[in-house]
Amino acid sequence: MEGKKPIICAAVAVGPYDVIGQNGVMPWHCRSDLYHFQKITTPHPCIFGRTTFENLPHVPLPNRFNIVCSAQYKNIYQNGVFYADSIESALQECSGCSKVFICGGAQIYRYAFDNDLVDILYLTQIKDAMLAENVRKNPDLYCHFYPGVSAFFNSPKWQMEKIIYSKNELPTNTGNTSAEFFKFNRTR
Ligand SMILES: NC(=O)c1ccc[n+]([C@@H]2O[C@H](COP(=O)([O-])OP(=O)(O)OC[C@H]3O[C@@H](n4cnc5c(N)ncnc54)[C@H](OP(=O)(O)O)[C@@H]3O)[C@@H](O)[C@H]2O)c1
Repeated sequence: MEGKKPIICAAVAVGPYDVIGQNGVMPWHCRSDLYHFQKITTPHPCIFGRTTFENLPHVPLPNRFNIVCSAQYKNIYQNGVFYADSIESALQECSGCSKVFICGGAQIYRYAFDNDLVDILYLTQIKDAMLAENVRKNPDLYCHFYPGVSAFFNSPKWQMEKIIYSKNELPTNTGNTSAEFFKFNRTR
């Protein structure tokens, strides 16, 4: 018997010019976003592309079922991590869960939005003036979010809600990086 279909969420942090990564990692260190990510994703299953997972500093993420998508594996468990040969296989493994999080990277987001899989998007907007200047000069050095933030803000397909944390709830960011948190619910 098939389990209940989970709500499919995606979580992404997007910098200036829709940047999400550079050389396999995120081109910022944003403590408030790390806190936010942990808060929204725990204790739910988290789905990653192989590149993103291989570049995470500490894996598996604690208190969450970690799933890695890779065509190199055939739906197997290794050290508690499930390696799925497709995003559909990854989602299948989560049937019966209330929520599941699609956590990137770029290829995984692209597939999820192209195939209309996402019910809720948690989007962090990262502000960083120096990064903005670097991306403006060399956009091709960076990995960009598809379909881009403009597909969500002011789109009738997505209802936006701003997530506000109280003053002492978030860790302080270092440097000139700051973050704002949004939730987009698909309206149909
Ligand atoms: N800012 C953010 O919120 C955020 C979040 C996550 C990641 N990122 C950034 O995103 C960048 C990585 O993105 P990326 O696009 O290079 O890599 P990715 O999406 O993390 O991983 C790509 C790999 O995932 C597997 N894959 C992709 N689509 C698949 C599918 N439909 N079925 C099965 N396997 C599939 C393939 O693995 P095989 O080659 O093994 O088949 C592919 O090479 C990094 O810079 C990272 O820091 C940013």
